[in-house]
Amino acid sequence: MTDFDAVWINARIATMQADQAPYGAIEQGALATKDGRIAWLGPQAELPAFDATRTQVHDVQGQWLLPGLIDCHTHLVYGGSRANEFEMRLQGADYQAIAKAGGGIRSTVKATREASAEELLELAKARVRALMQQGVTRLEIKSGYGLDLATERKMLQVARQLSELYPVHIHTTFLGAHALPPEFDDADAYIDYLCQTMLPTLHQEGLVDAVDVFCEGIGFSVAQSKRLFQCAQQLGLPVKAHAEQLSNLGGSALVAEFAGLSADHIEFLDEAGVQAMAKAGTVAVLLPGAYYFLKETQLPPVELLRQYQVPMAVATDLNPGTSPLCNLPLMLNMACTFFALTPEEALLGVTRHAARALGVADSGTLAVGQQADFGCYAMAQPAELAYQQGVNPLTQLVIAGRAVQL
Ligand code: NIG
Ligand code: FE
Repeated sequence: MTDFDAVWINARIATMQADQAPYGAIEQGALATKDGRIAWLGPQAELPAFDATRTQVHDVQGQWLLPGLIDCHTHLVYGGSRANEFEMRLQGADYQAIAKAGGGIRSTVKATREASAEELLELAKARVRALMQQGVTRLEIKSGYGLDLATERKMLQVARQLSELYPVHIHTTFLGAHALPPEFDDADAYIDYLCQTMLPTLHQEGLVDAVDVFCEGIGFSVAQSKRLFQCAQQLGLPVKAHAEQLSNLGGSALVAEFAGLSADHIEFLDEAGVQAMAKAGTVAVLLPGAYYFLKETQLPPVELLRQYQVPMAVATDLNPGTSPLCNLPLMLNMACTFFALTPEEALLGVTRHAARALGVADSGTLAVGQQADFGCYAMAQPAELAYQQGVNPLTQLVIAGRAVQL
């Protein structure tokens, strides 16, 4: 008899594995876990015999099992609110003008510096809980609202604390190169400081899993981003970028040059950039919430990404300025309505491809050996997740083989 910890039966399973039926679906399926991993999965008729007295059996009565959702791009640790800028934008001011006038990222920097770690943690806890209630089992959190050593450390420590408080897997990203802090008037000197002091220090403290940069006219140039990436590379850290969001500078090609994890936003990405990403295996992270909230009109080159088979991930970009939208299923809906992804592509974007954007191989699909992270959903088909919003079909969330209290 096979030794399982738990078995889910009478399930429909969206494995999200490549080259199978749509959604990698298995009808009348079963899934078994052992030691936090998927030990068996397939048609229920083939489920090996197991000792029912020592195994927890969950009869899900035809519900869908989906891989745990992954939000691979968030800024969810921050202080303050930018509702006032929202009002200003509605009266005609634009995002870049507000940033130049000292608002934007800098106003959140001020609020985040002033907040205690405890205050930041409380605010972030509510956001993490909301995402878990939607089925999220893994997420990324960026720094970047400190822009000084103490506050960047405070943000990353809060992110690490969250991963101790909740079963959700959390990846930290150092985004010190998010904006020029008020203490510096020379972006090159700030990059020097990041490379020589801030990044090595935080890395040594075990707080950094990856390095990000805002490569943009109102952020940092390609040359400056490159210097930061060289420093990350020397420390053995993977890189990614906010790139081609407001203009086409070539940040995505730079990420590809460093075999980076992902280029994110990419509304202005051109064919050469897509080709470079395809060659390097860099993931395209689409952020429809920011596109929507900034009322952008330039669409990301989805057709080219398909043509060159660049994996597309979808994320919330949860942040106070451009995407105050703590809702990953809503991003699926927006990725379909605004960017014309199919519901299946959108779901791949928050599962298999999002795992890849975080450099994780054993997550994001349901298969033997993968981490046992999945959600159980009362819905007729997986497309429902992208389709209907506001009614939560999630009935159970499992992380590392264990049912999570929501
Ligand atoms: O992902 N592009 C830069 N960073 C954020 C915006 C941050 C902010 O405005 O606070 C983004 O859109
Ligand atoms: Fe972002």
